[in-house]
Amino acid sequence: MRAETSAPRRSGTMHVRRADPAHAEVIGRLIRSLAAYEGHAAEVRFSDSQLRRALSGGVPRLHALLAECRGEIIGMLTYTVDFAIWVGGDVVRVDDVFVSESARRKGVGTALFDGLARICAAAGMTARWEIESANASAQAFYRSLGVDIGPKIIARWSEHAIRERAASQPLVGLKPCSDPVLTLLSVADEPGRSHAAAALYQHNVDRTGIDDRAPVGAKLVEPGTGRMVGGLWGRTELGLLFLEMMFIEANYRGKSCGGRLLMAVENEARARGCLRSVVETSSFQAPIFYQRFGYQEFGRVPFGAPGHARIFMSKDLT
Ligand SMILES: CC(C)(COP(=O)(O)OP(=O)(O)OC[C@H]1O[C@@H](n2cnc3c(N)ncnc32)[C@H](O)[C@@H]1OP(=O)(O)O)[C@@H](O)C(=O)NCCC(=O)NCCS
Repeated sequence: MRAETSAPRRSGTMHVRRADPAHAEVIGRLIRSLAAYEGHAAEVRFSDSQLRRALSGGVPRLHALLAECRGEIIGMLTYTVDFAIWVGGDVVRVDDVFVSESARRKGVGTALFDGLARICAAAGMTARWEIESANASAQAFYRSLGVDIGPKIIARWSEHAIRERAASQPLVGLKPCSDPVLTLLSVADEPGRSHAAAALYQHNVDRTGIDDRAPVGAKLVEPGTGRMVGGLWGRTELGLLFLEMMFIEANYRGKSCGGRLLMAVENEARARGCLRSVVETSSFQAPIFYQRFGYQEFGRVPFGAPGHARIFMSKDLT
């Protein structure tokens, strides 16, 4: 979406647009500049690929507005949309705001917040954010927009302090009212399964402190018909690429389609910092295919069907 607002005031032709994932690098640079400006450079530890993922998807975890002038990005505002029970709805939390030094006092910051105001007004949202108490110029800027600035003390629980606290406390659970009832499942039970999967993933994040699971995949679509004729689906997590499912229609087999899919997905995993790839296959599926692309077997469990086995393979991606 372009031209949320246009503000040529003293800065040539400038417009504010929504960022897309391709802007991750420039946004990353501006976020790092802001952290350095505020004296917090050492606390910044995101990678541009994490940032790109945060800006991606149907409901991105991070949004950004960019001020662009003659093809150059000269200012940025990032925000998230959170649920706030007091207002019974969504609120915008502004995260990082930065205008390149040479572009300041030319209306760029104002244009970015005008763009945000339109987004908030259209969705009936209010906005809030933190300001360094020593950043007098930012406070003057926000006052010029009519923003209320009130005192509030910010609580920050560091990763170290949290880990110490969590490790020192015994796990306290709610006492169950009665013995849970066991039901044997012979259907997929998708709601139960996805509830458990989300709880389990949260447990993993709590234990590792890392929240980086992201889907990855590639598909092949026939140009004439638009029909999907093959694909590879998996996820990246904790430095590993997990290949979960690959399928190629029979008449497209033997035409290098599998290799193209595999290489595309492995390259994306490398770009996300993955060091190894893992796949489970069956003796009658594709162990030879994976071997050809450098996968090595590290385990096998025989099936009940004689002569067949489940095979576990991995590959070093470095
Ligand atoms: C704060 C910041 C985003 C403002 O962006 P900007 O494009 O320079 O602001 P604008 O030109 O739209 O300023 C609009 C009005 O805000 C006020 N204002 C802006 N900067 C000001 C300053 N340094 N001192 C006093 N008032 C200021 C003025 O009233 C100004 O209008 P005027 O120029 O007609 O007097 C920008 O200076 C910046 O990136 N600073 C460094 C990073 C930062 O502090 N980010 C905010 C973190 S919370």
